[in-house]
Amino acid sequence: MTGSYPSLRMRRTRATAWSRALHRETVLTPADLIWPLFVTEGSGVEDPVASLPGVSRWSVDGIAARAKEAVDLGIPCIALFPNTPADRRSDDGAEALNPDNLMCRAIRAVRDACGRDIGILTDVALDPYTAHGQDGLLDGDGYVVNDDTVAILVDQALNQAQAGADVIAPSDMMDGRVKAIRMALEMGGHHNVQIMSYAAKYASAFYGPFRDAVGSGGLLKGDKKSYQMDPANGEEALREVALDLSEGADSVMVKPGLPYLDVVRRVKERFEVPVFAYQVSGEYAMIEAAAAAGAGDRDALVLETLTAFKRAGCSGVLTYHAAHAARLLNG
Ligand code: PBG
Repeated sequence: MTGSYPSLRMRRTRATAWSRALHRETVLTPADLIWPLFVTEGSGVEDPVASLPGVSRWSVDGIAARAKEAVDLGIPCIALFPNTPADRRSDDGAEALNPDNLMCRAIRAVRDACGRDIGILTDVALDPYTAHGQDGLLDGDGYVVNDDTVAILVDQALNQAQAGADVIAPSDMMDGRVKAIRMALEMGGHHNVQIMSYAAKYASAFYGPFRDAVGSGGLLKGDKKSYQMDPANGEEALREVALDLSEGADSVMVKPGLPYLDVVRRVKERFEVPVFAYQVSGEYAMIEAAAAAGAGDRDALVLETLTAFKRAGCSGVLTYHAAHAARLLNG
């Protein structure tokens, strides 16, 4: 009779907490997190984003305070996104090149508050600055033109690097922008400014709340399918990653996150480079809505999803849950 029992019992190592801890393959720590923050004009302002419960736009002073909080929590990097005032948005997004724009003032305030204790990642794309909400310049047909857009993105990246950005993150999906930005950074003396390219960025329905947060959602007509990727494609993501690496990206990002963990895994296995994922605004909103509806425990959902990114092969995750998750992890 005994012989009919399994000799290999997978449940043996799961039976106790000490044994589960010993056999755990993936560990999530606050050092795995990048915290995206939205900047708005004014001082002493906290402006909640309705479609992202628990997330606010902060004025520059508040951003500096959040950055200090990140340092205290052990979060190594923040990502900044501006809600540009309506009267500073234009068809060509020229405000992106203003050395005193919201983004540059926030960068300098964070540097003043935290010194080199935190990494500052800045998004390169024109959508927070254009009157039409697209990431680049439009031709007469409303098509986003590539090469003229890249020329402006290069100046935007230099403007951010000049203000003190540590990591330039082009999220625009124009062809050739990583190479152009890398060359300009080298020529401008910014040798140690990194590029984390949004290499596989999909034309996703999960970006809605973000567009509310930066104020581009109401302006955007149409979609971004002529430059962001088709969610049906995986092989194409590998070509995008190969290109961005050959053009000088230090690390690559897959975005959105959870629905694209297969892409993360394929990129990691193929290229063996640092891969990051962006758990985007719609994913955050989905988790919050599920928790509010009683469909799951909020803290458990947050930690489980973030751990899944590590298991899939990510070096780190951009997540609006960063501060909350770090607090949970720090006990
Ligand atoms: C800007 C940009 C977007 C996001 C990050 N950078 C929006 C978009 O491409 O429309 C989305 C992030 C999120 O949804 O949390 N190009």
